[in-house]
Amino acid sequence: MKSTSVHDIFIIFLFIFSQFVRGLEDCRSGMYPPKGPTFKGNVTWYTVNLDLPPSERWTQVIKDKNSELITMVQTIKDMAKGFFHGKLIDLVDEELPLIVDTLPHPFNEEMKGIAAVSGIPLGEITLFNIFYEVFTVCTSLVAEDFNGKIYHARNLDFGLFMGWDRQNKTWTLTEKLKPLVVNVNFQRNNKTVFKSTNFAGYVGMLTGIRPGELTLTMNERFNFDGGYVGILEWIFGQRDGMWMGFLTRKVLENATSYEDAKAQLSLTKLLAPAYFILGGNRTGQGCVITRTRINTLDIWELDKNLGRWYVLETNYDHWEKPMILDDRRTPAMKCMNQTTQANISLSSIYDVLSTKPVLNKLTTYTSLMEVSTGTLESYIRDCPNPCTPW
Ligand SMILES: *[C@@H]1O[C@H](CO)[C@@H](O)[C@H](O)[C@H]1NC(C)=O
Ligand SMILES: *[C@@H]1O[C@H](CO)[C@@H](O)[C@H](O)[C@H]1NC(C)=O
Ligand SMILES: *[C@@H]1O[C@H](CO)[C@@H](O)[C@H](O)[C@H]1NC(C)=O
Ligand SMILES: *[C@@H]1O[C@H](CO)[C@@H](O)[C@H](O)[C@H]1NC(C)=O
Ligand SMILES: *[C@@H]1O[C@H](CO)[C@@H](O)[C@H](O)[C@H]1NC(C)=O
Ligand SMILES: *[C@@H]1O[C@H](CO)[C@@H](O)[C@H](O)[C@H]1NC(C)=O
Ligand SMILES: *[C@@H]1O[C@H](CO)[C@@H](O)[C@H](O)[C@H]1NC(C)=O
Repeated sequence: MKSTSVHDIFIIFLFIFSQFVRGLEDCRSGMYPPKGPTFKGNVTWYTVNLDLPPSERWTQVIKDKNSELITMVQTIKDMAKGFFHGKLIDLVDEELPLIVDTLPHPFNEEMKGIAAVSGIPLGEITLFNIFYEVFTVCTSLVAEDFNGKIYHARNLDFGLFMGWDRQNKTWTLTEKLKPLVVNVNFQRNNKTVFKSTNFAGYVGMLTGIRPGELTLTMNERFNFDGGYVGILEWIFGQRDGMWMGFLTRKVLENATSYEDAKAQLSLTKLLAPAYFILGGNRTGQGCVITRTRINTLDIWELDKNLGRWYVLETNYDHWEKPMILDDRRTPAMKCMNQTTQANISLSSIYDVLSTKPVLNKLTTYTSLMEVSTGTLESYIRDCPNPCTPW
């Protein structure tokens, strides 16, 4: 693994420059059903049986994805070696396994089961799980059509600018993650409780649906009091905050309604700031919850009276301007506005999420959900050149 050099930085600036020169892409149309160079493949479905002991739930998924998981964990470790002269990895192998026992049930047992099946040390599985809590940037939206149908969709962008592959012009971590994307149908008594698009080896949730009831995605919120502080505090013993991906999992598994989910997502103390994007099953039920670790700054809801038929979140507070070098919000909103409420569908939302730079080189998958039919469709994405690196 090469470390970032002047050359990499030069390439990155060249890309930024080319983004301005080329300007923004026109809103895409006719991209659905997914095909062509930006569609890299379907996501395979697995069933996870919640009636099994937690340590046995992920066996099939891990067996199928083990070599990809080992490659990913090794890549993360190689990158972590660059920090503190490898001391970070010692910490991972020595300290993180002890920490697993302090995690809430069933997550601790599930991680132990994953480590046992994969043969990967428990500390490294824990590191892998922490990684997803902190290194994702995303675009999520909830929209309502004229019939009160609620759609929820997202692009998951992963990699956070680590390991630019000069030869292939891709992000190493992003590419290594793509084969780990799985769809999971979580069942109790042989009946679906919820479904999610997930990474093999990760026990939290970033994208999920309780058919007929609610849809949920999580986006990273960068903040100075952010994830890093919370995670360090947590490693060193102050463990009152909940992991974000555990909370979303708990909501998807056990929430009784949109209102219940909203309350849990707003009131639970967290390890790091986050955005929760929640959709319900009735008109007006869709919101973006902006969280600090302790409290909720804002809940931004659909509102017919204000003509707000969709809410859209990237990684910046909606009442502030996005960072100029990372404005995926304006192009996504431009395309939503062009689509209009009259023509909103899985198909037209896929078009919005296929427009650069909403689609970029970090984009790992696109998920489309429609709560009333219980639909969850996910597609692995690619962004061949010319394409912005984020
Ligand atoms: C993806 O799934 C769709 C629908 O099941 C199928 O028509 C298509 O051929 C699949 N594409 C790939 C690349 O596997
Ligand atoms: C570029 O992609 C090719 C084919 O996927 C792969 O074999 C090669 O290792 C990649 N290059 C680097 C530097 O990772
Ligand atoms: C679930 O279905 C399988 C096979 O269809 C059956 O053997 C099993 O008893 C069922 N389990 C429950 C809890 O209903
Ligand atoms: C959901 O509730 C059940 C029953 O109370 C519990 O066993 C399970 O651990 C809960 N799930 C999560 C993720 O907290
Ligand atoms: C919406 O969700 C609530 C709470 O789960 C449920 O009681 C209700 O039947 C659902 N409504 C529809 C139209 O499915
Ligand atoms: C989209 O429409 C909304 C509501 O009319 C408006 O506030 C926003 O500025 C528009 N954004 C773009 C990028 O066109
Ligand atoms: C509505 O969306 C479909 C699919 O994205 C597109 O083919 C059609 O042209 C759109 N119609 C209008 C009026 O925008």
